[in-house]
Amino acid sequence: MDTAVLLCRLDSLPAQGARGFDPLGQGTDTVFIVRKPDLLRAYLNRCPHYGDTPLPWRKDHYLDAAGEAIVCAAHGARFDLATGVCVLGPCLGQSLTAVPLELNSQGELTAALSSLQETNP
Ligand code: FES
Repeated sequence: MDTAVLLCRLDSLPAQGARGFDPLGQGTDTVFIVRKPDLLRAYLNRCPHYGDTPLPWRKDHYLDAAGEAIVCAAHGARFDLATGVCVLGPCLGQSLTAVPLELNSQGELTAALSSLQETNP
């Protein structure tokens, strides 16, 4: 059975926005959660364009100004919030690595340890 890793409490997230987490204590945010009123997704913080490049230019800046897309600060790739697919930029058609979330009965969001350790193809 895969180990569940705590990311945060759902009620600690803003109703709209994104936040990064370092659930494995690697010294940098390796996963981030995007939340909107009708959407909750998590992705590994690695741009598919180039190696293990993290997306934000500073902590928790994963979205564009309107909160309509995930943006990589390195070369400007834009990703669909719901699917993680690049819709504009140098990695068009490639995708962020999704991290399935679980909401437990205590209101905590967790992810399977194996999903946090996956590497990009
Ligand atoms: S590394 Fe993300 S767009 Fe180039």
